[in-house]
Parts: sequence; structure tokens; C-alpha cells
Amino acid sequence: MARVFSGIQPSGELHIGNYLGAVQNWVQLQHQHDCLFCIVDLHAVTQAYEPATLAQRTTDMAIGLLAAGLDPERCIVFVQSHVPEHSELNWLLTIVTPLGELERQTQFKDKAQRQASVPAGLLNYPVLQAADVLLYKATLVPVGEDQLQHLELMREIARRWNGRFGEGFFPQPQAHLSTAKRVLGLDGQVKMSKSLGNTISLFDTPDTIWEKLRPAATDPARKTRKDPGTPQLCNVFTIHQGFSPPETQAHVARQCRTAGWGCLDCKRVLADNMIATLTPIRERAQQLQARRVTDVLRAGAAKARALARQTIAEVRQRMGFLAGAEAS
Ligand code: TYM
Repeated sequence: MARVFSGIQPSGELHIGNYLGAVQNWVQLQHQHDCLFCIVDLHAVTQAYEPATLAQRTTDMAIGLLAAGLDPERCIVFVQSHVPEHSELNWLLTIVTPLGELERQTQFKDKAQRQASVPAGLLNYPVLQAADVLLYKATLVPVGEDQLQHLELMREIARRWNGRFGEGFFPQPQAHLSTAKRVLGLDGQVKMSKSLGNTISLFDTPDTIWEKLRPAATDPARKTRKDPGTPQLCNVFTIHQGFSPPETQAHVARQCRTAGWGCLDCKRVLADNMIATLTPIRERAQQLQARRVTDVLRAGAAKARALARQTIAEVRQRMGFLAGAEAS
């Protein structure tokens, strides 16, 4: 059994990019491995945000994850800021993290160029992410493709810390990708992302799903109904890979390559399959009570913290700190 860790920001809305890129895998992995899934609120505050809505967005994300199929009997679900050891390990890892590597991170460069003043926390973001995973000595990290560079840096940080303070202490975490590892927005241009407003939410109603999917971008080579297309170049086909059974995917791919179907035919089938998967998730979310979610997160934090404390105690000892005054 591997130790699995992954995280998601409390954007409040779980969209099909998160779901197909990561969360669908989390639901599978909880049956096979020892899993921790974390709502990363400390990461979320590295970008401009509204304090008045953070707590609600965190609760909403937890509701989304439980409705999507995470079972607190099978995995640990918790909120990052509830386990203060994340922040402590973050600090301790900064001392082995090369500044140049942080400055080279694509996500940092993208986010930094959208801000007038760049906070140091944004630069430090991948160090906190490394702390999240290494705190639990996790070896498997189910994420979308956009996180691969952060994982590469995480391994570098683990190697450098081990080299200085204890060979073999932190394992080298590996990414676990899904088939739909990079879902584009409905515009077909850039990554699907809440901040870009190009998403289908896991909680959209059947009517909204169809309204959004109908005009969604497909393979640009299919200018008219008669032009054949290449499924691998079509974002709608990527989404089929997450929601449709293999035989439907094969059929859709054939109809696309031969121009047997128009894009609208393909989207209609996809909409039906999406609605079949997402309706029970939406209904479960409506039934989940805030009280139950609070209890799940409290119990999750207690379990995570017990594990985190063991690692931190060893880290402190290996780094040579004076023992005896640790916070209880
Ligand atoms: P976040 O909140 O941006 O996204 C959560 C997960 O969803 C995946 N994802 C996508 N996959 C495919 N297509 C998309 N359009 C798409 N959009 C999002 C992301 O790859 C991610 O797996 N830095 C992380 C959170 C994090 C973390 C961690 C992850 C913090 N600590 C430790 C793993 C391990 C993030 O911003 O995720």
C-alpha cells in the first residue's frame, strides 16, 4: 500500500477539470491505498482573495469532495491550516530550496505577471506544496498535468534535504496522472479554471451543462459538418475520456475521423453521459449537512496531525534543534 497525498484549493467550485484531472482518481485510489486529501487554504491566500468568503469556500469544497465520492472511512479529508505542521515544515524546507528554481516555475511566472505587486508567498507556493506531501512521506501524488513542474521541484527539495540531514528520510514522490490530465476550458484555448470563467461545474444542472457544452470549441479542422476531425486534438473528446465508457469513446472517435457525426451529435452523447455521472453528485451535495462536514474535517485534521507530528519531531531532531519546548 502506497501513501497517497493530494490537495485542492478552496475555490468553492469543483469543476470538471479538477474532477477529471485529479478527484476522479482520488475516489479510486482511496480503495487501494493509504490516502490523505487536503483542502489547501494556506495556498489559496497567496493570491488576492476575500477573507469574508474563505471559510464558506472551504466548506463548499469539502462538500464537493464528499459528494464526488471521497469516503472519510477510507481516506483522511482535512483542511491544511488545521494542521500547523504544514507551515512549520514549509519554513524548514525553504532553507534547502534554490531561489532560481522557484523563479523558473511556470505557474509562478503566470500568476506573478497578473499582479502589480508580487507577494513572497506566491514565490514560496511550491515549497508549501512540497511540505504538504513530504510531511506524510507520501510517494504517490494524483494531480493534473499542470502540477508536474511542482512535483519535479518537490523531488529536488527532498533530495537536497536528505543530502544535508538524513539520506533516505523523505521519499521521492511520483505524480499519478489520469487520461484527461489536461482539460481545456470551453473556449478550447487555455486550461479550464475557475478564475478564467471557462468551466463546467460539478454542480451545474442538466440544462446548464448543455447550454455550456453546445457552443464549446472542438477540433478547429472541423469547419463544416463534412470535415473529418482528429479526436486527440479535440477538448470535447478529452472530456469524453472522463465521462464515457470505452466503447462509446471508440465509436465517437470513429465518427469524428470519418465525419460520420457532426460535433453536435458527439456533444449530445457526452452531455447525456456527463449528466448521468454528475446528477447523483449534485444530489448528494444538496443532502450533505454543514454539521456533518465540520465533523468530518475535524476528525480528518486530528488523524493527519498525529502523522504530521511524528515527521516534524524527527525533522527537528535531524536538523539539530534544542528539544524540550515543542508546542503541545
Ligand atoms: P488546484 O486547486 O489548482 O487543482 C486541483 C487539482 O485539479 C487539477 N486540475 C486540472 N486537471 C486537468 N485539467 C484542468 N483544467 C485542471 N484544473 C485543475 C490540478 O492539477 C490539481 O491536481 N497546487 C495544487 C494544490 C496542492 C497540491 C498539494 C496538489 C497544494 N498542495 C500537494 C498535490 C499535492 C493546486 O493548485 O491545485
